Amino acid sequence: MTIDVVPVSLGTRSYQVRIGPGLLAQAGAEVAPLLRRKKVAIVTDETVAPLHLETLMAAFAAQGITATALALPAGEATKSWPHLARATEWLLEQNVERRDVVVALGGGVIGDLIGFASAILRRGVRFVQIPTTLLAQVDSSVGGKTGINTAQGKNLVGSFHQPSLVLADTSVLESLPARDFLAGYGEVVKYGLLGDSAFFDWLEQNGPSLRADPALRQRAVLRSVQMKADIVERDETEEGDRALLNLGHTFCHALEKATGYSDRLLHGEGVAIGCALAFELSQRLGLCAQEAPSRVRAHLRAMGTKVDLADIPGDLPSAEALLALMGQDKKVVDGRLRFILARGIGQAFVTDAVPPETVIGVLQDALAQRR
Ligand code: GLY
Repeated sequence: MTIDVVPVSLGTRSYQVRIGPGLLAQAGAEVAPLLRRKKVAIVTDETVAPLHLETLMAAFAAQGITATALALPAGEATKSWPHLARATEWLLEQNVERRDVVVALGGGVIGDLIGFASAILRRGVRFVQIPTTLLAQVDSSVGGKTGINTAQGKNLVGSFHQPSLVLADTSVLESLPARDFLAGYGEVVKYGLLGDSAFFDWLEQNGPSLRADPALRQRAVLRSVQMKADIVERDETEEGDRALLNLGHTFCHALEKATGYSDRLLHGEGVAIGCALAFELSQRLGLCAQEAPSRVRAHLRAMGTKVDLADIPGDLPSAEALLALMGQDKKVVDGRLRFILARGIGQAFVTDAVPPETVIGVLQDALAQRR
């Protein structure tokens, strides 16, 4: 199978996202043109390391590139000050210089953390993203958002720091547990819902086969990355259109907070539920036909991912409490909540003109289905 290439055109910060099977084993040759000296430092996590680090180290060795590696604990808790300190100090111990390249091998946690470490190390070194989850391949590895979580919330400390290259090896997705694959799918379906109804039609046909079919999987990653690159090129630092990528995220962030960022709800699962709720809210506001939220829910159901609040185990707070959690979202501007709503499938837009009582009504009805 061929390698697809999506350029992300951002002037001096431009780079390629290369997508296809076997890229991990070719990483040495792919990264070599970026190097001023034959040396890289890799940061990964303890889940990914046993699966993929040996292949990556061999790929660098085959090109005569010296590689050292650090494996951090897996999980969201790693996106934190202590691990940022550990990673940056380790990178300094490896004598990473201003003109060197750092490699982030892993999912969104490692990509965001090591992207941020690279942004602040020696006032900025280049880094390469090698995303190993579906979520990271279609979303977090592209676009340069980097950062960590703090006690006050997720992603509240960080910077825009674009990678110099993204290698999305679609064959590594075969080692993903089914739940993680489906969680990543929440971000894939988001692209169809926000801006490409033909892609959503295609996903309705092909979504259930993506996990088993390498060619379909690559096509889904490619279309998602093309859409993300297009939006990031228009609005790198989220002054406008980039907020569309947050479809489903206002609800998702409140639900993640309510469930303590635990195993009860993975981020991509929250995005899927959040997309269904955003379409429900859009319909209640008279923006889109009833058919749209029904179609979104039917497709998510067919995929076997979480769709409703009833799919989240354990207790949830009241609708009012969930709305209050949304008020702590990064997307609050001048105290007004911003929502991504839709006039139909593939027609999302950003607005802060949403009556809180309509949001509460949607949440109350969704919570009532749990009983
Ligand atoms: N994940 C949303 C963004 O990159 O803007």
